[in-house]
Amino acid sequence: MTGQVALVTGGARGIGKAISERLASRGMKVAVGYSNGRDTAAELAEKYPGMTIHQGNIGSREDCERVVQEVYDQHGRIDVLVNNAGITADKMLHKMEVDDWDKVIQVNLSGTFYMSHLAFQQMRERQSGRIISISSVIGERGNAGQANYAATKSGLFGMTMSFAMEGAKKGITANCVAPGYIETDMVAGVPESALEKIVAQVPVGRLGQPDDVARVVEFLADPDSSYITGQVYSVNGGLFM
Ligand code: CAA
Repeated sequence: MTGQVALVTGGARGIGKAISERLASRGMKVAVGYSNGRDTAAELAEKYPGMTIHQGNIGSREDCERVVQEVYDQHGRIDVLVNNAGITADKMLHKMEVDDWDKVIQVNLSGTFYMSHLAFQQMRERQSGRIISISSVIGERGNAGQANYAATKSGLFGMTMSFAMEGAKKGITANCVAPGYIETDMVAGVPESALEKIVAQVPVGRLGQPDDVARVVEFLADPDSSYITGQVYSVNGGLFM
């Protein structure tokens, strides 16, 4: 993996940060995408030689084009794309606004499509690449209050299997990692009473750590993982099995 280039969307915080750090510790040059919080991203990049930061909203096709171009200009290529950035707008269906639906679809689903679409072109020419998309246990089993988010996270499975079929003979693999409830800002936003009930359902009995997810991404990103494609790896403490 040494010297290869990874682009991690939402790579400065939470699960994305753990992924950026793991890949960087394997000698990869990591391009960290972020939407807000330049200081946090810059602080991370200072720690790792070759790490660069790129601001953009993956829900905007123009931003995705600009970010991918920046990475090509600065690093020459993208060997590994990690589609990690995502948002929630949790509401029970009877209270959900169309805007709550649209914005989550735009970022989580369209954003993953835009980034993969752009990176795939060059991976195809180079006959080599890894596309790893961070889905969720919510995409595997649904969740009250998350019809929008669940639709996007299930959608990533279908998109990934299609990428995998198209990439298979071109040296490109595509896989999903489906985390359960991981100790991040996103999960910290869940009301305490709801979170207590969730943790009570997790066989392992606790929240996961961002690095629990990052180590699976590292495994999938490895050039030796070339025979694994179109798969979902769940990292959820047994919440869904
Ligand atoms: N299943 C079925 N019904 C449920 C339910 C559940 N799990 N939870 C709540 N309800 C019902 C309640 O019983 C209540 O019914 P009545 O109106 O008949 O009394 C109704 O739904 C409203 O419940 P709330 O009072 O909780 O409604 P609210 O509008 O205040 O809040 C909510 C709704 C925003 C969805 C809140 O319950 C919530 O935040 N839940 C947690 C959602 C969650 O797990 N989000 C995960 C975010 S982290 C993440 O997404 C990362 C990842 O990938 C795992």
